Amino acid sequence: MSQPLKVALTGAGGQLGQTLQQYLSAERYQIIPITHAELDISDETALRRHLTDIKPDAIINAAAYTAVDAAETDDLVARAANATGPKNLARWAAENDTWLLQISTDFVFSGRNHRPYTPDDQTDPLSIYGRTKLEGELHVRYLAPKHSLVLRTSWVYSQFGRNFLKTMLKLMADRDVLKVVTDQIGTPSSTWGLARCIESALQIRPVGTLHWSDAGVASWYDFAVAIQDEAVKAGLLDKRIPIAAIPASDYPTPAKRPPYSVLDKSQTLAVLDVSPRHWRHELVDVIAAMA
Ligand SMILES: NC(=O)c1ccc[n+]([C@@H]2O[C@H](COP(=O)([O-])OP(=O)(O)OC[C@H]3O[C@@H](n4cnc5c(N)ncnc54)[C@H](OP(=O)(O)O)[C@@H]3O)[C@@H](O)[C@H]2O)c1
Repeated sequence: MSQPLKVALTGAGGQLGQTLQQYLSAERYQIIPITHAELDISDETALRRHLTDIKPDAIINAAAYTAVDAAETDDLVARAANATGPKNLARWAAENDTWLLQISTDFVFSGRNHRPYTPDDQTDPLSIYGRTKLEGELHVRYLAPKHSLVLRTSWVYSQFGRNFLKTMLKLMADRDVLKVVTDQIGTPSSTWGLARCIESALQIRPVGTLHWSDAGVASWYDFAVAIQDEAVKAGLLDKRIPIAAIPASDYPTPAKRPPYSVLDKSQTLAVLDVSPRHWRHELVDVIAAMA
């Protein structure tokens, strides 16, 4: 049997990082998890020392500053994680002939499209988070063009960490009524579907930019209604509350979000050996794992 692929995983404590550690089998992958406490990826000296000790065959960068609203006022810290970190990783990857997977976001787009975004579509982020993630993409493409894949995804959730699913479950348990935005359209992506895509990417190690999300589209309101339905069915919630659909203009947030950020996955499906499941089916599985 061939040797397991040695994979350095930054952001190991985050929701995608935790999922990958459970999903990627020990027979095929030797995962070296690297948490934020162990390494700040914006510290180039520490990063180079760490990676040179590990000598990975591949690097997955699942580390990021993901607090979209907080980033509006915490831009230096967001930029360090989302732009400087990927720059440091890309430089090391290119110098050491190592493949780097950089996870990015639908928030690099403005959302003015009325059809799914392809990887080549014009980027135009509306927020500091989106801008810093785009800077990270540009560094990776510029410094490691032959050694990197930028994989954009959207609306990521799981049973781990902080995400929309967990926020909704808490609010649905605590409140008598909920208002949720209906005029922002995208696609929820379970970290488990994303992990299947990443495993295929690890096998093929393509370069360039690809998109991944679960199948289908939804508004945040649709996602919330589905969460309540499935959570009640699974016994995670013991009552239903009314959920009202509101426009984003009635729910002002520090960061602007794209009104439409569905990702076109056709290039991904042509390059990788994976197919997305409908977001609602992924949701049923994540809720079952929490029940
Ligand atoms: N969440 C979403 O809805 C979403 C949507 C589209 C794309 N993405 C992308 O998907 C990827 C995974 O996101 P996720 O949801 O798993 O994020 P997450 O749960 O917030 O995890 C990110 C991890 O990165 C760590 N981190 C932050 N700054 C760091 C630094 N300077 N050095 C090292 N580690 C650092 C965090 O540690 P601390 O918690 O200690 O700071 C955390 O453990 C990210 O690239 C994100 O941009 C996410």
